[in-house]
Order: sequence, then C-alpha cells, then structure tokens
Amino acid sequence: MKKRFKIVVTGAAGQVAYAFLFHLLSSKIFGEDVTLELRLLDLPNTLQRIHGVQMEIEDCLFSNLAKIICTSDANEAMTDVDLAVLIGSIPRRSVTASRADLIKDNSRIFKEQGLCLNNKASRDVKVLVVGNPCNTNCLVALNNAKDLSRDNFFAMTLLDENRARSLLAHKTEVNVNAVENVIVWGNHSSSMFPDFYHAKINDKFAHEVLSEKWLQEDFMHLVRNRGTEVIKARGVSSGASAASGIVGTLEKIFAGSREPYSLGCCSNGQYGVDEGLIFSFPYKNGKVVEGIAHASDFAKEQMQKTIEELRQEREIAREIGVIR
Ligand code: LMR
Repeated sequence: MKKRFKIVVTGAAGQVAYAFLFHLLSSKIFGEDVTLELRLLDLPNTLQRIHGVQMEIEDCLFSNLAKIICTSDANEAMTDVDLAVLIGSIPRRSVTASRADLIKDNSRIFKEQGLCLNNKASRDVKVLVVGNPCNTNCLVALNNAKDLSRDNFFAMTLLDENRARSLLAHKTEVNVNAVENVIVWGNHSSSMFPDFYHAKINDKFAHEVLSEKWLQEDFMHLVRNRGTEVIKARGVSSGASAASGIVGTLEKIFAGSREPYSLGCCSNGQYGVDEGLIFSFPYKNGKVVEGIAHASDFAKEQMQKTIEELRQEREIAREIGVIR
C-alpha cells in the first residue's frame, strides 16, 4: 500500500497555485511509493473557482493523486498535513507600497496559520512560505507554532536565485546550466544580496567574466527588481516562475540536492545573522552550509543591510503583537 502524503496549499484559487499544482503532480519529488492528498484552502468566496481547479486536475489523470479536498476551513485543511505550502497572502497595494503595510496586511493571516498548524498538522510537518513578505510571514507562522520544529519552517528564495542565474546566462550568452553557485542571501525584498562573488559561469568566477561594476550595480538592481518588473509588465505578480521556484525548492528539500541552494530558514546565528530571523542562506541536505567567506567590503555591507531590514520587519511584527 502506497503512503499517502497530505499537502495543504493556501491561496489555492490564485494564479501561483494554479501553475504550481499541475507542476507538482507532474513531478516525481515524493517518489513512486507515495500518493498525494491535496487540501486546497482559500477564502469562502473562491470555493467555486477551486472546484474548477479540482475538475481540471482530475481530468489530467495524474496517477499519483489520491484525493482533493476543497475548503475554506483551515482546521479541516491542515489536519495531519505533512507539508504546508503557504502561497496565499495579501499582495502589495501597489509597486510603491511600503514593507510595513505589507507586513501589517499579512501578519494576522500567518499568525492564524501558525496556530492552526501547531494544533492540527503532523508533528513533522514542513512549511514553505511563499506569500509575501515571505521571510517575515514565515517568522510569524513559526513563532505561533510553538510545538513544531523551527527547522521545518522555510521561506522561498530559490526564485531569486533562478532569476540571478537566468540574468547572468542571458548577459554572457551561455546556457543556464553553465551558471552555478549564485546564492541569494537575506530577505526576499530589494535588500536581498545575490552573491555574485562566488558565482561561476562555465567554471570561471562571474567577476572574471563580467565587470565588477556591472555586477555590483546593474546585476544587483535587475535581480532585486525582477518581481516588480514582472508586475509592471503583466499587471499581476509572477505566477509560473514562482510555481517553478516552489517545485524546485520542494525537490531539493525532499529529494536532496548535490549543490547548495538559496532557502530562507531559521537562523541559529550563522554568518552573524540574529538567531531566530528567517534568512536566506545557502542550504543543503537539511542544514545551512557554513564557511563561505564574505571577503569584500561590498559583500559585508550588503549582508548587514539585509540583516538590518529583517530586524526592522521583526520589530514591526512585534509592535503589531503577532510575535513576542
Ligand atoms: C516576486 O518576487 O515576484 C514577488 O515577490 C513580487 C511581489 O511583490 O509580489
């Protein structure tokens, strides 16, 4: 008898979930001996839409699908789940809206979801937060899930790494597979540090192939603003690329990875990051990869800026009263 793996997906009526669910079911992340039970959770007024998604999934004849539950009841959706993919969040009010407003808008949702996971989910549940501001939403969920392991809470930053790789490949006219080791550190925000110092393009350091000035200025700007540019171009935020980032992250978490990848996880004080902050680190096989040097003043400054922003976001969450 195959093991049934239960997954709750929040924001199930949205465009990211729509791209993610089909991609997930087509993947082999959980192996041949596992079937998936999907709990599609969203607001009551979206239930008809989620039922539409359910019909489409069923009509794809995925043989690894065991069952789909469509619900607006978080308790029902989160009972005994092995994995929570928290996509649903209140989007930025505009491309110029402040971080503080985004945190205020979202923190109560993630407090409720943290409490609910704490009460209902499997004790080993892994939680991947995608909805923005994903680092601080993850911090809020984790702090309200006191009985769950903080090592199982993650925020998705692989999308930023993928963007950085794609931009370097495009600039140097190489295949994306020739670009490696582009870890994104810190917050999924405009303070993130896409570390080009360790990045390699066809086995050469990126700063040997491209000018350091371009890397420090244009490259950093392009990676940090890619999400905003997508919103400006499409009128909505990234959908398919976000879904691809989620599936890539789950593949690496559950099936393992030969190389370190970017993942927001709970700091134990590594690299001088305050304990407890959700920070994007190089991550591999269940742990933060340590020992990477940030030698230049520029890199040290970028690390400090993104740490400082995450401290400020934690302060806002404390002021609102969603964490202690
Ligand atoms: C993205 O990186 O695509 C999103 O985080 C952008 C946004 O603000 O929704």
